[in-house]
Amino acid sequence: MKLSLAVAILLPLAASSQTVLYSNPQGCIDPSKYDDDTDFFPQKFVPDVTTDYLAVEYHNTYKIVTNVLNEKSYLFYQCGTDPPVDEVSSGRHHVVLSIPHAGKVVVTETPQIPSLELLSKRSEIGAYVGEPKLVSSPCLSSLMADGVVETIYYPDDPWNQTLNDEGVAEFLAGNPDAIVLAGAFGNVDGERHIVDPQTQERTAVATFDWLGMYAAMFNLEGVANDIISKAKARYECAAENAAYLTADVPEDERPKILWAEYYDGLGWSVADCPAWDAAYYCEYAHHCEASIVSRPEGVGFSESFGGTEEYWYLTDDEFLMLGKDVETWVYPSPTFGDVYAMKAEILDQFVSVRNGRVYDTQGQGPYGWYEQRLAEYDVVVLDVCSIVGTASPAVMHDRRWLRSYFTEAIGSPGTCDDGDVFAAWVPAEARCDPIATTTSDDQTGPSPADPVATSAAFSIVGFVPATVVAWIASIFLA
Ligand SMILES: *[C@@H]1O[C@H](CO)[C@@H](O)[C@H](O)[C@H]1NC(C)=O
Repeated sequence: MKLSLAVAILLPLAASSQTVLYSNPQGCIDPSKYDDDTDFFPQKFVPDVTTDYLAVEYHNTYKIVTNVLNEKSYLFYQCGTDPPVDEVSSGRHHVVLSIPHAGKVVVTETPQIPSLELLSKRSEIGAYVGEPKLVSSPCLSSLMADGVVETIYYPDDPWNQTLNDEGVAEFLAGNPDAIVLAGAFGNVDGERHIVDPQTQERTAVATFDWLGMYAAMFNLEGVANDIISKAKARYECAAENAAYLTADVPEDERPKILWAEYYDGLGWSVADCPAWDAAYYCEYAHHCEASIVSRPEGVGFSESFGGTEEYWYLTDDEFLMLGKDVETWVYPSPTFGDVYAMKAEILDQFVSVRNGRVYDTQGQGPYGWYEQRLAEYDVVVLDVCSIVGTASPAVMHDRRWLRSYFTEAIGSPGTCDDGDVFAAWVPAEARCDPIATTTSDDQTGPSPADPVATSAAFSIVGFVPATVVAWIASIFLA
């Protein structure tokens, strides 16, 4: 018989009958084997300071996960223990779930997919609700094509919420232990629905931080904490290098980015960045020390589409005025080709178009931008820095998400290794060395986290190799 991990890591302490866990159980436990005050979750997830909507509270045998945005809480209790009576009878928790969860999940939005795949839980996906071609994950697509994962989709009436809810209810009837993952604007009150509103968070780090909610559900905080902290460190490395490389460049001489796309029948939707964290692209531009071209207040017209948020659009003339001299253009959708075919006369007046410096978001195919991109935000920021010339020249970066429209083919998310369709997804990682320390003469010296080492490296300008200086000069004098 296979010993469960929980049993295998039970280590009796000398001179005491107490048993201590060093990692969160990966199966049910027998509570009679433990003391009353055993902490079953020694590995805990702590949200980032910029994560606005997720809180996890740990108790010895249960956790309370709170979704602040949708005002929902979920009670997760260790399988084998009794759920806390007071908490359950309070009725304040929308779902009471035995963990580690093992009863399938239903995916309703593609950003939920990477979180499950990173934690090796693709095998827990029981159904996907929506248009199957929007799934970018090659292995999940393959499982759906083979019918291993059910597809709940009504092609004749794809946006009919009633139909979709009925399909989900039918799946739940056959899989009563399953959990449905809802989006922030999905069926948040649905039975056994847990909301993942990651796309509503303010920063890239916070968006990815919702991996912690999945980790709490599967007792995989140890794995998630490692992934989360390393991705954040890589992201910060790119941002610190951009800051280092532009330290002496005045604000108005920073590289500019035009971030805009066209909506048929409406007009040009242009970045709106009143603050660095107003939108994900504002944040990327900010951390690459680029200035993003924002829609000037009062320019354009707005639509609210029956909701509360206003969406602004510019006419061709307004857009031409605003963007024609900007050297780099990111077109964050797959439709640039169609628009260019329609409006070549206008677009050929743009410096970015004339110089072939237009990038769309199809580096990994048309749909990965709305899925795996969110889990590779450290790579995305390096893509952005590299197109405006603020990535470190010392480490070769292969652009992965932003695709040069004029010189590169549309990318692909790759194929699933059929040998192991349930293997964990291994994301791409940004390669980044902190310039501030690697350009000093002491490469084996203190880590970049050491404030003394960092400030010393910053103050000794002479240690920046001449090639870097020349390279920095070339991008800003070009
Ligand atoms: C959704 O589908 C149901 C069942 O077919 C139908 O009765 C309903 O009218 C549809 N709703 C909309 C808004 O089309």
